[in-house]
Amino acid sequence: MSTVGLSRRTHDCGALRPSDAGSTVILQGWVDSVRDNGGVIFLLIRDRYGLTQVTVDDRCAPAVWENARKVRLEYVVEVEGTAMARAPGAVNPDMATGGVEVLATRVTILSRTRPLPFAVGSGGAKAALPSEEVRLTYRYLDLRRPEMQRRLFIRHRAYQVTRRYLDAHGFTEVETPILNKSTPEGARDYLVPSRVHPGHWYALPQSPQIFKQILMIAGFDRYFQICKCFRDEDLRADRQPEFTQIDIEISFATWPLVKELMDGLIQSLFQEIQGITLPPIPVLSYAEAIARYGVDNPDIRFGLEHIGLDWAGTEFRVVRGALDAGGIAKGMVIPGGATRASRKVIDAWTEFVKRYRLGGLLWGKRTDTGWSGPLSKVEPALLDQLGANPGDLALVAAGPAPHVHTALGRLRSHVAEQLGLIDPDSFGLVWINAFPAFERDEETGRWVAVHHPFTKPLDEHIPLMGTDRMGEVLSDAYDLVCNGYEIGGGSIRIHDQALQARVFEALGLSEEEARHKFGFLLDALSYGAPPHGGLAFGFDRLVMILSGTDNIRDVIAFPKTTTAQDLMAGSPSTVDPAQLEELWVRNTV
Ligand code: AMO
Repeated sequence: MSTVGLSRRTHDCGALRPSDAGSTVILQGWVDSVRDNGGVIFLLIRDRYGLTQVTVDDRCAPAVWENARKVRLEYVVEVEGTAMARAPGAVNPDMATGGVEVLATRVTILSRTRPLPFAVGSGGAKAALPSEEVRLTYRYLDLRRPEMQRRLFIRHRAYQVTRRYLDAHGFTEVETPILNKSTPEGARDYLVPSRVHPGHWYALPQSPQIFKQILMIAGFDRYFQICKCFRDEDLRADRQPEFTQIDIEISFATWPLVKELMDGLIQSLFQEIQGITLPPIPVLSYAEAIARYGVDNPDIRFGLEHIGLDWAGTEFRVVRGALDAGGIAKGMVIPGGATRASRKVIDAWTEFVKRYRLGGLLWGKRTDTGWSGPLSKVEPALLDQLGANPGDLALVAAGPAPHVHTALGRLRSHVAEQLGLIDPDSFGLVWINAFPAFERDEETGRWVAVHHPFTKPLDEHIPLMGTDRMGEVLSDAYDLVCNGYEIGGGSIRIHDQALQARVFEALGLSEEEARHKFGFLLDALSYGAPPHGGLAFGFDRLVMILSGTDNIRDVIAFPKTTTAQDLMAGSPSTVDPAQLEELWVRNTV
């Protein structure tokens, strides 16, 4: 489709080809580079479609020269001229328009710029990037960089592919409210005071969870929404306080149906954006993921799988102590690691696992005849369980199970990155299911829902709820993981009002509390609720992976910093005391 339409420009900056030679053209855009060779000035003009070279030489009128000399980087200009095929030696094969140049007959400056805080355009692609703080403060300049534009175009395509796919599969897009009742889902709520109801507050949605379930009860059958969610939690590289979900709910859903439909969506996204067909996405149970990778969001692009060690018979002191204290021992073998990992590197890995509450790491190098290193003191028959070959390095951790799993799980990714075992252009997707339904909150000791309290426990585990085997209850919940990132999560829901009330009770919510927080859901569930289930994808994380970055802020036009600030607009900010008064809020700071 032509992008020039009714504007004054005849072509965008990516359009001209040698076949256009002889046409009179008008281009509009930013000055990407200026090369003044005395007798000739070359201007590269840029817009979101590309770059075109404009030439000012002795064939041009004095007025053209005068303006061309005033032009600076990032000025906005309009250039009129004649398209000409470049001489064979001057063709630039790296540019789509590299076979043409425009001989200027008019150069008009539309807008000037103050001195730039950093280089943008193709100059910026070559220069070192300034700090992210500077980039976020001048986001309008940062977003001018072709790399940033490329990522936002990918984001745009991902919206379109998602909408097309879900529409074709019978999903209806429905908006749910932003001003909500506070029903915390794990993170802290962002609260909004009500002016007309003194002392009452709305909460911004952490997700549309309850509304989408109510839409199923209302008979919509299949719902989706690409929506903003808000969570006041500690931020990391893959988290934002305000982020976007592809939120989905399906009536009469089963886990295989959810998987089938969602695998299709993911395939469409990778096919249309990356141009690749993914292999079928495997499924691991939570227990299997923990056993093999130590974490429930494993990066499956490389090996280094964990090996459960049955070392009950060992006399080796460190391991003996850990096992006697009720702990476990687990190992990991790095093929060829005996030569690839120096003593210094192994010492650094030992420090690394200490961050995850492990006392240390045992290591051993498999030689042709036996073992060297601390592990050589372990009974040889037990070491055989590691299955190491000569030249391999084995790492063993012993201690309380959760610490061993997490520390060795994090170390697995760290080692793979350090030794270059990950193909950065590959994608490793895996579903994790059969999660524990409940876990104890470390601070309060109370049972909390691992996913959320609307998740259905597996039928055969329902009788364990409320007993001392509560921790063994598994749920019909699932996550989708890609390259070690959790990119989506959901579950089959409870559609039975009585079961929902029992789960609230098992979580220690009194009937009164449950009614206060979720009464409307309990009511809705008692008016003919179909079995249903769904999930939500983290849209920003998905786009982050599709566009090859590991920084979530790179795929959000106006993101917050890790301290939840917008450096460009300057939010959060103080407000006029009169505004607070009107909202019945007293500033206590
Ligand atoms: P959950 O809390 O697992 O589930 O969120 C779904 C997905 O959203 C993404 N995500 C985030 N992305 C960026 N910044 C954040 N702070 C952030 N928090 C979560 C993750 C995650 O997998 N209502 C349920 C879904 C359901 O059960 O249907 C929910 O919100 O990729």
